[in-house]
Amino acid sequence: MMRALLLFLTLGVASAEDGLAAWLRYAPLPGVAKSEGSIPSNIVALNATTTSPVYTAGLELQKGIQGIFGKQVSITHQSIESLSTVVVGTVDAYAQEYGLDDDDTADLEADGFWLSTLNGTIQILGQNERGALYGAFEYLSMLAQGNFSQVSYISNPNAPIRWVNQWDNMDGSIERGYGGPSIFFQNGLIVNDLSRAEDYARLLASVRINGAIINNVNANASLLTPQNIAGLKRVADVFRPYGVQLGISLNFASPQLLGNLSTFDPLDASVIDWWTNITDQIYEAVPDMAGYLVKANSEGQPGPITYNRTLAQGANLFAKALQPYGGVAMFRAFVYNQLNESDWRADRANAAVQFFKDLDGQFDDNVVVQIKYGPIDFQVREPTSPLFANLLQTNTAIELEVAQEYLGQQCHLVYLAPLWKTVLDFDLKVDNQSSVVSDIISGKRFNRPLGGSAAVVNVGTNNTWLGSHLAMSNLYAYGRLAWAPTQDPEAILQDWTRLTFSRDPTVLRAITQMSMESWPAYENYSGNLGVQTLTDILYTHFGPNPQSMDNNGWGQWTRADHLTIGMDRTVSNGTGFAGQYPPEIAAMYEDPSTTPDDLLLWFHHVNYTHVLHSGKTVIQHFYDAHYNGSAVAQTFVPLWESLKGKIDDQRYNHVLFRQEYQAGHSIVWRDAISNFYHNLSGIPDTENRVGNHPWRIEAESMSLAGYKPYQVSPFEMASNYTAIVTLTNSTVGTADTTLNFPDGKYDVGVNYFDLIGGISRWDVSLNNNSIASWTGNLENVLGHAPSIYLDGHSATRKTIRGVQVKKGDVLKIVGTPNGIEPAPLDYVVFLPEGVLD
Ligand SMILES: *[C@@H]1O[C@H](CO)[C@@H](O)[C@H](O)[C@H]1NC(C)=O
Ligand SMILES: *[C@@H]1O[C@H](CO)[C@@H](O)[C@H](O)[C@H]1NC(C)=O
Ligand SMILES: *[C@@H]1O[C@H](CO)[C@@H](O)[C@H](O)[C@H]1NC(C)=O
Ligand SMILES: *[C@@H]1O[C@H](CO)[C@@H](O)[C@H](O)[C@H]1NC(C)=O
Ligand SMILES: *[C@@H]1O[C@H](CO)[C@@H](O)[C@H](O)[C@H]1NC(C)=O
Ligand SMILES: *[C@@H]1O[C@H](CO)[C@@H](O)[C@H](O)[C@H]1NC(C)=O
Ligand SMILES: *[C@@H]1O[C@H](CO)[C@@H](O)[C@H](O)[C@H]1NC(C)=O
Ligand SMILES: *[C@@H]1O[C@H](CO)[C@@H](O)[C@H](O)[C@H]1NC(C)=O
Ligand SMILES: *[C@@H]1O[C@H](CO)[C@@H](O)[C@H](O)[C@H]1NC(C)=O
Ligand SMILES: *[C@@H]1O[C@H](CO)[C@@H](O)[C@H](O)[C@H]1NC(C)=O
Ligand SMILES: *[C@@H]1O[C@H](CO)[C@@H](O)[C@H](O)[C@H]1NC(C)=O
Ligand SMILES: *[C@@H]1O[C@H](CO)[C@@H](O)[C@H](O)[C@H]1NC(C)=O
Repeated sequence: MMRALLLFLTLGVASAEDGLAAWLRYAPLPGVAKSEGSIPSNIVALNATTTSPVYTAGLELQKGIQGIFGKQVSITHQSIESLSTVVVGTVDAYAQEYGLDDDDTADLEADGFWLSTLNGTIQILGQNERGALYGAFEYLSMLAQGNFSQVSYISNPNAPIRWVNQWDNMDGSIERGYGGPSIFFQNGLIVNDLSRAEDYARLLASVRINGAIINNVNANASLLTPQNIAGLKRVADVFRPYGVQLGISLNFASPQLLGNLSTFDPLDASVIDWWTNITDQIYEAVPDMAGYLVKANSEGQPGPITYNRTLAQGANLFAKALQPYGGVAMFRAFVYNQLNESDWRADRANAAVQFFKDLDGQFDDNVVVQIKYGPIDFQVREPTSPLFANLLQTNTAIELEVAQEYLGQQCHLVYLAPLWKTVLDFDLKVDNQSSVVSDIISGKRFNRPLGGSAAVVNVGTNNTWLGSHLAMSNLYAYGRLAWAPTQDPEAILQDWTRLTFSRDPTVLRAITQMSMESWPAYENYSGNLGVQTLTDILYTHFGPNPQSMDNNGWGQWTRADHLTIGMDRTVSNGTGFAGQYPPEIAAMYEDPSTTPDDLLLWFHHVNYTHVLHSGKTVIQHFYDAHYNGSAVAQTFVPLWESLKGKIDDQRYNHVLFRQEYQAGHSIVWRDAISNFYHNLSGIPDTENRVGNHPWRIEAESMSLAGYKPYQVSPFEMASNYTAIVTLTNSTVGTADTTLNFPDGKYDVGVNYFDLIGGISRWDVSLNNNSIASWTGNLENVLGHAPSIYLDGHSATRKTIRGVQVKKGDVLKIVGTPNGIEPAPLDYVVFLPEGVLD
């Protein structure tokens, strides 16, 4: 009987570990007896209305205590005289029921809470209902981590706006989404089943996010049809119990596209009426709507400039319609034009300040200008956007991106909190006074009434939400930093790890090490020294393609030629961008000798032989960083493997697959970037690694039947520039060769290309004994933007570990093409222990 019960419990836990619960698993705490005094026996939730976040807090406490302690606790909605009670409610409700000594809660601000666990009575008091729910989640987070400290403290948010943005299209696709299709939209309408939307609101509330814009900033006017407004009401209804306010992105041309007006001029009376009417309709359905988000005159979107009106006039159009309801108009600063690279002084990074600085003071009080963290676009490293230092009479919010658009698309582990901190903690020294970005966006520095942060998240229907379990640390950390930007990224990560996986110190150590090393590693094997990510900006934003940066109008230039690299953004000789910062910062960036190495190429055009503060040349830094970064990515595999048995198999295997993929793709990055700049500069690697691959066998040099050589473009994406493809898409290809390596045990890497549009098959044998077979199905398993070409996105390494090899063995690879995927093969590498080639 006992055994059967244990078995049942074990199965129950294992089957639930699909990632859907993320960090809200409330996993049983081993070693804590049900009878322990500190476990509450009663829950008092001081609001009986089911839509109240306080009511939700009661349910959440019940669920958490059940999960963590296996103890069923009942909920009441008025005060009871009982020991061992957890009381949750607003300060006002509590004062009415119990009376209150003000001292403890006097300093609470909107959304803030007071939590006290002294003497076994738990008091969770919110300044408002949302704050009470946040306090309940805080207490549950402590319990779930086995933290029974006696505490009593208040917690207030850094800023009032803590929102997420979803780039969901109405057809259900998501722009830059890597976790499956939309949880909100399908076929132009809001989905019927909003259970995932509700789960999302719960996750967001648990990290104190209070608003969610649910549709793409490249917005479709049809969101505003009566049928869709009714759908928005349904979404708001499932968000409301979690204190998450709904917001929407607008298409500036909606009055014309949807309303049949002849104009969308923001000063035209019929346009103003139209927006007022639409706003009234929405607030009738959603009285507590958060507001609007507008991307105007950017990347082809319509906007006020179409009518020679200012961006402020455009923003204020919405602000005025929203104002009676207390709604906020978020207006994106991501406005820029195409430029000509032959103009040395042209610079997309200048655009935001050029467009917005002169409008400072012209925005209504309920407008918030939403500014990407850097002046270009979510790159692996950017300097802080100087616009934060140029809007002193305007509300601002920072825009971050949880979706790893340019940072591996959730197929590479990249813990982003340390990257965000480089901007949140940056002191812009406006008027020679401390002007830290987190104090600017909170409104504190310039005495603004509003401000905060928004992050592009793009969760999808996948059970993992973002496509990868480990990537969820970024959503968690975003919420934590939006609330308290001074928190330590590593401490946040460890809370997340304990909640998501385990309190086991081995698990904690491994995930901490992998995550904290992940952004530096990714920066090392992608774009260094502030040159930007070097991913393909014209196609998928995923794999390497340094050439795509230049010779186009997008302004993400590197200006690399055979002698020099980098953007001259100085005032003295370049684009003048450095001069957009306050004097002290401007002076630092103006001079290469005071510019930090990690932003050198952002600000300066230098020789490849320029010597960094580190003592290395620029080009040798590139080579070393790429070899070091990809070597670090290899270590994530054994680190993760050390957790086998300590994490449920479902999530263990999912993550292992991705870490192996990342290890292989980091080699693709390393070789592509190293080869590209080696070829361009002609400067050899002092360590003689670049272009020197003693353990590889190029596929084109094997005996081929049914396969032919193929020149890969861009050239640097294939070893020796050449891959092989089958003669036709119905010819099975064979490549074989006799091995000439010393006898021993090797890890065998097979580099191939996995395109979308076909599922080829590769069968690898040694002396006709199969050592591995797989299919090219990554487009169905990984979730990154796929490619139809042999390029840096499709290039993949498959590693077959521990293969015993003898000199004279015959290696044979049989490739079976399918669809447009001609079983492409680049090379095979035999890696003795300790070698990475
Ligand atoms: C209870 O919750 C409802 C819904 O959120 C709210 O309108 C009401 O003011 C709350 N009552 C108290 C006493 O806080
Ligand atoms: C908790 O107990 C201590 C001593 O046991 C007492 O001094 C203190 O006043 C109590 N605090 C509360 C909030 O009841
Ligand atoms: C327990 O939680 C409290 C409140 O969040 C925190 O201050 C404390 O550091 C935690 N203790 C441990 C050991 O994590
Ligand atoms: C906007 O949505 C409608 C309805 O789903 C769809 O027919 C139309 O193609 C969409 N427009 C754009 C530009 O995506
Ligand atoms: C706009 O015009 C289309 C077709 O001309 C019509 O179907 C639609 O009802 C009109 N909408 C409004 C709001 O007048
Ligand atoms: C919006 O305009 C329509 C007709 O143009 C009218 O029937 C409707 O009452 C208006 N709605 C609101 C909320 O003003
Ligand atoms: C645009 O507006 C500015 C100032 O409001 C005015 O000087 C200029 O002539 C206008 N241009 C056009 C093409 O209307
Ligand atoms: C100054 O700018 C010119 C282009 O106008 C460029 O060719 C030159 O390399 C720059 N000089 C320095 C020292 O960067
Ligand atoms: C770059 O190298 C060239 C020689 O190739 C030299 O003339 C020039 O001064 C160097 N520029 C800098 C900024 O060091
Ligand atoms: C590199 O590719 C060329 C054809 O593009 C081929 O002739 C040569 O043998 C290859 N080198 C190696 C080392 O396989
Ligand atoms: C989640 O995505 C992975 C690929 O990224 C896929 O294998 C899996 O089937 C998806 N699961 C769900 C439930 O969508
Ligand atoms: C080969 O390609 C053609 C045209 O692209 C396609 O119709 C056919 O199904 C493909 N054959 C195989 C075996 O995939």
